[in-house]
Amino acid sequence: MQKATIIVCPDVTTLSRKAAERFIAIGKSAIAARGQFSVALAGGSTPETMYANLASPEMLQQLDWTKTFIFMSDERHVLPSDPRSNYGMALRTLLCKISPDKRHVFPVPTQHPTAAEAAAAYQRDLTNFFSASPDIRFDLILLGLGSDGHTASLFPHSAALNEKTRLVADSPPGTLPPPVERITFTYPLLNAAREILVRVAGEAKAAPLRRILVDGVGREECPAAGLHPSNGTLSYFIDTAAAAMLPSTMLTKL
Ligand code: 6PG
Repeated sequence: MQKATIIVCPDVTTLSRKAAERFIAIGKSAIAARGQFSVALAGGSTPETMYANLASPEMLQQLDWTKTFIFMSDERHVLPSDPRSNYGMALRTLLCKISPDKRHVFPVPTQHPTAAEAAAAYQRDLTNFFSASPDIRFDLILLGLGSDGHTASLFPHSAALNEKTRLVADSPPGTLPPPVERITFTYPLLNAAREILVRVAGEAKAAPLRRILVDGVGREECPAAGLHPSNGTLSYFIDTAAAAMLPSTMLTKL
């Protein structure tokens, strides 16, 4: 069974604010301990309000962005200008508010002709970035949860679930939109993180959350069930709608 801290918030607004506060706290602690904060942002639509919180003047000034290094935990194989781009969404909601000379952002190089080439290039970027570190280990990886139980772009029954060597892999479209090739962190990279924070909102996520956290469904069916940080923590920040099928004894209320 997945061991996770489950923080439940009354609504998405509170969820976004609390997740943003956690992001800032982890960032400050990482910079104090190691002189830098390495973080991978999630895609999809749920994170938008969290990124907008981080982009607020009162939050922006709380973190030293010159020591913050930002990657994407997954991406669609489209250009940044494409409305489906996860990087494009992060740029619109958060990154544009950090002055370009003060931000260190590593988008997935989706200009490569295939998702496999983009994944290989991104792995090189990651390896180069962490070359001075003892290991390739993010301080924080943000993720979402799809209604089919996917996370990042690890979809049910996909080959990327069994990837043991590549840290970044290409993956065919899942059953949920958009139907485009993906580039995704794999479990070896995800589970090396110091902290994984999964944000989950809405009633459509109540069933996959229960399958993962209560029924013990495996990662082939629900890839988010494969999140097991080997030397880190896993936390779910969820709203009451997503918590509807979980026993209250599992929940930490904020
Ligand atoms: C993507 C996302 C994906 C997302 C989930 C949840 O590229 O689609 O990275 O993994 O996190 O699908 O999406 P929502 O938060 O928008 O429901």
